[in-house]
Formats: sequence, structure tokens, C-alpha cells
Amino acid sequence: MMSGRVWLKDGTVVDGTGGAPFTGDVWLQDDRIVAVYPAQARATRADAQAWMRERPRTHDCRGKVIAPGFIDVHTHDDAAVLNTPDMLPKISQGVTTVVAGNCGISLAPVVTPHPPAPLSLLGDRQYRYATLRDYAAAVDAARPAINVAALLGHTALRIRHVADLDRPANADERAAMAADMREAMDAGALGLSSGVFYREAYAADMDELVAVARVAAAQGGVYATHIRDELKGILEAMMEAAGTARQAGLPLVLSHHKCAGAANWGRTLQTLPLVDELAGRQELAMDVYPYTAGSTVLREDLVDGVIDILITRSEPHPEVAGRYLRDIAAEWGVGEYDTCVALKPGNACYFQMREDDVQRVITHPLSMIGSDGLPNDERPHPRLWGAFPRVLAQYWREKGVLSLAQAVHKMTGMSARRFRLGDRGVLAGGKAADVVVFDPDRIKDNATFENPMRVSDGVEAVWVNGVLGYTEADGVLPERGGRFVRRQAVQPAA
Ligand code: ZN
Ligand code: CU
Repeated sequence: MMSGRVWLKDGTVVDGTGGAPFTGDVWLQDDRIVAVYPAQARATRADAQAWMRERPRTHDCRGKVIAPGFIDVHTHDDAAVLNTPDMLPKISQGVTTVVAGNCGISLAPVVTPHPPAPLSLLGDRQYRYATLRDYAAAVDAARPAINVAALLGHTALRIRHVADLDRPANADERAAMAADMREAMDAGALGLSSGVFYREAYAADMDELVAVARVAAAQGGVYATHIRDELKGILEAMMEAAGTARQAGLPLVLSHHKCAGAANWGRTLQTLPLVDELAGRQELAMDVYPYTAGSTVLREDLVDGVIDILITRSEPHPEVAGRYLRDIAAEWGVGEYDTCVALKPGNACYFQMREDDVQRVITHPLSMIGSDGLPNDERPHPRLWGAFPRVLAQYWREKGVLSLAQAVHKMTGMSARRFRLGDRGVLAGGKAADVVVFDPDRIKDNATFENPMRVSDGVEAVWVNGVLGYTEADGVLPERGGRFVRRQAVQPAA
């Protein structure tokens, strides 16, 4: 293992806590951070001389930011980390840990060659892990370039145990789901995720969700949810999620918080005050990605004649991928709705949000960054390759609506605290050596809707558990430092 000692020297240290940046050094040894201190303190540190005599590999970080490796709290990378362990789309953004298993969708504990929707989002022939312990072992065997933490998906549990998906689970089925949840928590899961928005989970009632979430609560887990309705009924859906978490007794994360659909634009002026109010009663946070377009399967009910819809995949008409529904409809001489029906099954990007709403969520003190990227799409939404550099480029450097310390905090320290990843997300002695060095003047996403699979600029070097895994000059390096990371005990609020 080629890690040894690393000395990151004279960088702008943004330590992930949200505290003010300072010029300083960070020392890494093997898989831990040994010391973080301001440059002025170097001369007076008794250990500095000894450290230098050990001839660490030195990186001159003048003019560069040294930050904790970014944590992508909302991913669907469950299968990607096994199939493409290089994880270029993520490590090239400075991401060192992904949280898999979001939106109710997780590989464990389902075993089937042909998963039904929405589990099929992760790809066919991926469902081979009857327990989370098996999945964790597969991650460690694949040794991906980045760390993987996992939620257990409620929809996966439902598909495994509930005989009729159009009704709530009965008592026996709830008990079977709870037993799987217990196994997963014993194996280190972060908690439960749900996606009651999706048809396969829509019939789940609060009793069912609480029965499973209680098991996660008993071991200090969290509950992340893609709520039932992000359009007209969003406030009620948020209340339902909050009620579920309160009854079960665990912290809530609202997934990819947004106000979707033209009729809902501007309504973050209602949803965010509700977030504040609820947060006064229970632990609550949300994740968000920095784009006005969402991405999901083709659904004609989302065709409203107002929003732009970019087709990213169509099974019956693969040739239209990358074109707008409106243009295809005009060419065919039929309406957008009928065109959408004809293109199914497939996927699309829906430009269903407005920038003022996105910005209000991103700048809210309880939001953190999650890409929600879909690695199994042929033409994925650009958030898969660009979400993290985009937050820095757009919301810190260009618009100035976040400070550098705030932006980094939303990608690191806050994420680790909310998701119980205690020894990551902050630069401090004793923490895991997950570190990114980036150029604050150059960092920028290059992935676009037209060209969605492009590496970002300005991410100069990334260490994962002390292993240098990526440089801007050489790309992904042969030694991969990631591992399966388990839930840790709650830290006192920072
Ligand atoms: Zn979702
Ligand atoms: Cu998701």
C-alpha cells in the first residue's frame, strides 16, 4: 500500500465545519489525518521537525483549497461501485464517499435476475445480495475508488415481502420487513430510505413505514424519503414524512427537495418555512442538487405543455435520445402527450423547477448536496458528473450566495453529521484521510445536458483513506482506497 505520509502545505484549509478558512497544512498518515494547523503555527510545532525528517510526500497547495472529500448523500451508485469501481464520475468531482440505497431502492436484500420498476433503475442482473452484509462484502471485494455507505430501501423490502403491492403490508409482512431492516442495521446500514412517490410503494401506510423505521431508530439510524408528492400536495407529503419519522423516533432527511411543476414554482416560500417549523420539533435535513431539471422515467402525467422535456432514452425509438419532446412532437405532427406515450418506456430530464426555488433550497441552512445521479442511464442527467463542482462554481464563485465555507460544509461536515458518518467530513486530527485539493478559481462542472459525461475542471487531487486515487493530470490512479463504511454513533451537534 502506497500511502505513507503526506504533507499538504500552505493551502486554504476549509475544514468542513463551516468555520472560516485559513492558510495552513494538513498531514496524512496511512488512512488518517494526523494534524491540521495554520501556517504560522508550523515554526512553533515541536512535532513539525520530526514529521519533516520522515520525508513525507509534499504537495505545495499555495492558492489551492484543501477540504474534506465530498460526501454525495443522495446516490443510486449501488451497482456502479461494483461494476465500475473506478467511479470516475464521482471521484473526478472530489467525492470520496457516496450514500447508496436512496429513494427506497437498494440492491439488498433482493435476489432476482429481472427486477421490477423502480428497482430496475439500478440495472438488470444486479440483484444478487440477500443481505446487506453480503452487499457490504461485495463492495469490499470490489475495492472501489471511493467509500460506500448504504441505506436500506423500503421499496426493495416491499417487493421482497409484500404479496400485493397495491395494499399496505399486513402484520406478517411488516415483521419480515423489520427483520431485514434489523439485519441491515447490524451490518452497518445508515438507516431506511423510502420512495412512496413510486407506484410500487405508494400503497404503504404510516403503520408500515413506522414499523420498519422503528428498527432503524433503535440502532441510531436515519430515515431518508422521496416524499409522496413534490407537486401540488407537497406540504401534506412533507407532513407525512415528518410524522413518520417522529412516530418512529429517528432523524428525517427529505430527499432532493424541490417544487416541481409550473403551478408550484415559487412555493419554496411555503415549504422552507415548514422545514424550519418541523426542525424545531425533530431532527430534520434535506438534500438538493444544483439544477432546474429533474430526471426520471418517461411519464405522460408529467407532460404539461409548459416545461421542456429532454428524452434521454426511449426503448421503441432509441434514435430520439438527446432531443426535446416538443421537437419530436412537431416533427411527427402529434401532441406532446401522445408522443410521450409512444416513446415509453424510457427516461427523460424534466425542466420542472425554477432557479429561484433551487437557489432558496441550496442556501437554506438545513440543506446538503446530493447528486441523485443515475449511472445506469446512457445519457445521464449531468448532475451525475457535475453536481459538486457546479455548486462551487455557480453558487459560491459566480452568484456569491454561499460562502466557500458554507458550500463545503454542505458537501462534507453537515453530510457526515446528518448521516452518522462520524469520522469523515471534517479535517481534524484522528479523522479518516478523505481529502480533496481543488483550485478555487478553476473548479467548474463541464457536464451539460448536451454533453453529460464530461469530467470537471479544477479538482487537482483526491485522497480516499489516505490513498491518492485521482489527480487532474492523470485521472483515476490504479490504487483504489474506498471501502464499505458503517454507521457510527451520533456525534454531539457541532
Ligand atoms: Zn428520488
Ligand atoms: Cu434518488
